[in-house]
Amino acid sequence: MTTVNELRVTVPGCATGPPAEAYDSRFLNWHGRASVRTQPRRVLADGSVTSEDGGRVLFFPPELAPAARHPLLTERGGSAVHRLLVRSLYQYLHFTQVLEQVAVIPVTTDISLGRTGITVPARMQADAFAITTDEAWHAQFSHDFIDQVNTASAVPPFFPVQPRFVRRLDEIRHSLPPDCRRLVDLVFAVVSETLVSAILTDIPRDERLPPALRALVADHAADEGRHHAYFRSFLQVLWPQVDARERQLVGPRIPDFVRAFLEPDLSAVAAALRAEGLPDRHLAAVLDESYLEARTTDRIAAAARATIRSFRGVGALEDAATHEAFAAHGLLT
Ligand SMILES: [Fe+2]
Ligand SMILES: [Fe+2]
Repeated sequence: MTTVNELRVTVPGCATGPPAEAYDSRFLNWHGRASVRTQPRRVLADGSVTSEDGGRVLFFPPELAPAARHPLLTERGGSAVHRLLVRSLYQYLHFTQVLEQVAVIPVTTDISLGRTGITVPARMQADAFAITTDEAWHAQFSHDFIDQVNTASAVPPFFPVQPRFVRRLDEIRHSLPPDCRRLVDLVFAVVSETLVSAILTDIPRDERLPPALRALVADHAADEGRHHAYFRSFLQVLWPQVDARERQLVGPRIPDFVRAFLEPDLSAVAAALRAEGLPDRHLAAVLDESYLEARTTDRIAAAARATIRSFRGVGALEDAATHEAFAAHGLLT
């Protein structure tokens, strides 16, 4: 925890450091573009659980929730599949809410306060306020939508475990010397903001899903396009300012951050299957057969392509141990 005495605050507009031309802001028209400023609250229509022909509306794409297609679940009937998909949506929304609040907002707040220890262009420091506001809205609307789906579907939300990335981030932070932890937080934010999530790209296009859900995720995706560009620039400013020792300690852990973010959260899936009454002897089979390691690795490498390009672009992979770690995690294919 930072104390007041430790705060070294740089006022936006007064920051010194990299020249303004090193940073191309995507936030100059934020007031006319940000979803929090331009889009309404997304509201699930009454009766959105059933479709016009009396069938059940999907609340999550089964392709993104492989356990929902496993025979040991499908043989339990359409209602069981429906509830698992609703729980998959809850899991995604909860993950989003926690990610914004735990991993991104603290970093953008620190950038806007000028207390990351990294000197950034004044415009970049000012833009961090906009991202903080965007992310607070994403967390808020994710939480709000969980409530709405609960009311519409009568499937109670439950989160028996913290999202996996919180547990992994904590483990990684504590496996490194305390003076590297600030860099871990900055790099984790860069990783999470530069990955391209299949959910953000697929859900807005999926006509099987409720329009309000598609619009909610489209709002998020539009904001994240700007954040992606911001964090790519932030990394270019950050990496050259990190000393060699910290780069050598944190660099090889970057693939762990990628996996922490993108690997399926199997404890959450197991909890959803247990809630459906699946006996323990079936759980391992569903998880093993639905989430094959090779398929997971391919999917992660595809989603991380832009992130890898960003780290390669700043020279992070010139460190042998970092390069080896990326290769060992199947990220250099
Ligand atoms: Fe976000
Ligand atoms: Fe973001």
